[in-house]
Amino acid sequence: MKDEISPRDGIKFLPHFPTVLVGTGTGNKSNLITVAMVHVFSIDPPMIGIGISPKRHSFKLLEEHGEFTVNIPDKEMLEEVKDCGSTSGEDTDKFKDFDLTREQGGNTVVPGVRECPLILECEQEKRIETGDHHWFVGEVVNAMKSKEFKRSEAILYWSGEFRTPGKLLE
Ligand SMILES: Cc1cc2nc3c(=O)[nH]c(=O)nc-3n(C[C@H](O)[C@H](O)[C@H](O)COP(=O)(O)O)c2cc1C
Repeated sequence: MKDEISPRDGIKFLPHFPTVLVGTGTGNKSNLITVAMVHVFSIDPPMIGIGISPKRHSFKLLEEHGEFTVNIPDKEMLEEVKDCGSTSGEDTDKFKDFDLTREQGGNTVVPGVRECPLILECEQEKRIETGDHHWFVGEVVNAMKSKEFKRSEAILYWSGEFRTPGKLLE
């Protein structure tokens, strides 16, 4: 027996991909935004998509520059995740404000975040206008991972709560 719930509530019950810090823009104007709407769109070629509201400063930067970086923080970076998700980069430098370091990667001009154990550099391939968020889908052209990175220590944001991924079943 199941109760009928609203379609909007229905999607809230889906477990999430890890929350990431998306790098946009270039030089000292480059910015970070916390993003929970992230997914793999293709394995070959490797493509990843991010859902961004047109209200965000990062949205303008994504329209101006054909690249972005997807930086996966671990649970030690929860405060930075909250900070980058509650301030606008329109008139502040979040890298500076939150003690994060621009990591200039191999294939994109847009920087990554040195403190994040996994950095995926992406070249924009497609933009999909859905509803209140638009999906920017990019090909991953370079990936950098620290030896210590553990998937089990990524941060999930799910219906107002922050978690780490659950138990291994098999
Ligand atoms: C945990 C968390 C997840 C978020 N996920 C998204 C998201 O998927 N897409 C989005 O557009 N905004 C998301 N936000 C909101 C933005 O991070 C927030 O509005 C940010 O201040 C925008 O920064 P900007 O104006 O510098 O781009 C999220 C915020 C938090 C705290």
